[in-house]
Amino acid sequence: MNILKNDEAIQQLKNAKRIAVLTGAGVSAESGIPTFRGEEGLWTKLSPHEMASFEAFYNNTAIVSEWYHHRREIIDKSNPNPGHYALKELQDLTEDFSLITQNVDGLHQRAGSTDVIELHGNIMENYCINCNRQFSHEEFDEIYRHNSNHIPHCFCGGLIRPNVVWFGEQLPEESIKKAYQAAIRSEVFLSVGTSAQVAPASDLPRHAKQNGSYLIEINPNQTAISDIVSLRFEGLSGDILPMFVEDLKEILSNNQQTVR
Ligand code: OAD
Repeated sequence: MNILKNDEAIQQLKNAKRIAVLTGAGVSAESGIPTFRGEEGLWTKLSPHEMASFEAFYNNTAIVSEWYHHRREIIDKSNPNPGHYALKELQDLTEDFSLITQNVDGLHQRAGSTDVIELHGNIMENYCINCNRQFSHEEFDEIYRHNSNHIPHCFCGGLIRPNVVWFGEQLPEESIKKAYQAAIRSEVFLSVGTSAQVAPASDLPRHAKQNGSYLIEINPNQTAISDIVSLRFEGLSGDILPMFVEDLKEILSNNQQTVR
């Protein structure tokens, strides 16, 4: 169903040489990974400060580690959905494309997207807080399973933590720098599946818009940036993004035929 054909959004995407996309938990919702806010969101049952802070990890290592292990297991069993694949295709169709994500699940990369800017880290990676040794998901799993008290220790004795950004921690410097640069130089900025409530990621769409970018939001619900976007698509990213890409490909191939 090509409801978007010749739509303003497709024209903007077609004409743009530089596109930046910010994704949030909603993009992975259709892969079966819970979001943070909303009715079924993780933060409606748990407090971020009890689960997603260094203090919580240090004081309740077993509980916090178990929760991350549980989330890793869900992610490990899940697969990218049509929204992830559509963004990979959009990257292939665009001269200068930046994919910025707040997600830690690595599903964009599993769908084939490259150079993904991960603002909040990657949950499948772990490291020792003492010697900084890195542990892959498999290595960590091995240590975790053989540890009856569920407190994962490195060979040096230090605690092993997930490579995610917790509340109160700095975002990876290089990632946030690249994200700002991408937002500012973008001609079209897509904000997809994020409630846009957590800074500094939530500042990116505003920066893009202030610098002249055409701001499009895809989300079934209103968000903190809905009132400033140029265009809003109220729906699921797994439905809307593939439609964007299909329509875009069709228009591009029609244009090629015309030129010949
Ligand atoms: P949220 O859980 O805050 O928001 C998810 C958004 O996705 C909501 O606006 C939903 O309406 C929308 N949504 C749900 N299903 C969707 C679908 N199928 N397609 C499109 N949109 C859908 O998640 P984030 O905005 O990503 O940070 O949260 C930002 C940060 O807050 C997270 O990275 C995490 C969290 O605390 C840290 O842990 C540091």
